[in-house]
Amino acid sequence: MSKSNKQVEPLRVALIGLGAIGRVIAEELRRAGEGVQLVGAMCHHPDEGAGLELAVVTTLDELLDLRPELVVEAAGHGAVKAYGAAVLRAGRDLLLVSVGVLSDAALHAELAEAAQASGRQLMLPSGALAGLDYLQAARLAGLDRVCLRSSKPPLAWRGTPAEQLLDLAAIDSPTVFFRGSAREAARDYPKNANVAATLALCTLGMEATMVELVADPTLRGNVHQIEASGTAGEMRLSLNNTASPDNPKTSLITPYSVLRSILARRAALSV
Ligand SMILES: NC(=O)c1ccc[n+]([C@@H]2O[C@H](COP(=O)([O-])OP(=O)(O)OC[C@H]3O[C@@H](n4cnc5c(N)ncnc54)[C@H](O)[C@@H]3O)[C@@H](O)[C@H]2O)c1
Repeated sequence: MSKSNKQVEPLRVALIGLGAIGRVIAEELRRAGEGVQLVGAMCHHPDEGAGLELAVVTTLDELLDLRPELVVEAAGHGAVKAYGAAVLRAGRDLLLVSVGVLSDAALHAELAEAAQASGRQLMLPSGALAGLDYLQAARLAGLDRVCLRSSKPPLAWRGTPAEQLLDLAAIDSPTVFFRGSAREAARDYPKNANVAATLALCTLGMEATMVELVADPTLRGNVHQIEASGTAGEMRLSLNNTASPDNPKTSLITPYSVLRSILARRAALSV
């Protein structure tokens, strides 16, 4: 009896965004070898691809012409609003890094409908968080309470509404400046509270998942603490993430979490 050895084509991946997150993903994917092929990237300026030896385009039509099977967004809320549904309708899977954009319920519904209509998937990476597998299982068993406390150095909150609430340059101890729902956190702090949206979507939803945001001058990286309880027990998880060298709002782990999600699509062993 002859054994069949099925040859699997490499997964064709394209990126939207070549900033702090997208550039690391591009560099790592080029090193990833078999199984995954980075076919190109879209960003505002072709110069952003300098040194990457990669097809860099500036329109969605050009990106789709590269025939990606999976499009990875690492660009921001505006890019998801402009291109997200079109990517799914064109029959490509879409992995979103700017998860906080799903705090916009109408956009979330549009993306879900586009994914369903074309039989494709909207994927979210764990990003700067951990324990989402446990929490999704705990949700099935019954979850009662989920809270997130995200603490970052004061400069990471520059350019956000925190500037109106605090004198970021002057605070000398950890200061909570926001308490509210994951929806409010993700909506008002789009570059800082993607983790709140991811946690909410995996657990109790945008309204019932509670969030505290903290400016902490004693920190150099970003600390995310999750507390959850329910039928399956209690979880207390604390992550002390190194910040991205290119963007203090972003944790260094984020692009690697995206990379893990991409590689898992072709891995023989799936966790
Ligand atoms: N899920 C998470 O845990 C997590 C963690 C950190 C950051 N993020 C999110 O990831 C996103 C990217 O972060 P970053 O630090 O790499 O940003 P960045 O500002 O360094 O880079 C953004 C890139 O996207 C491109 N871009 C932006 N809008 C575009 C558009 N409309 N069309 C084409 N290209 C566009 C820019 O040209 C640039 O290359 C942000 O939305 C951020 O909030 C998510």
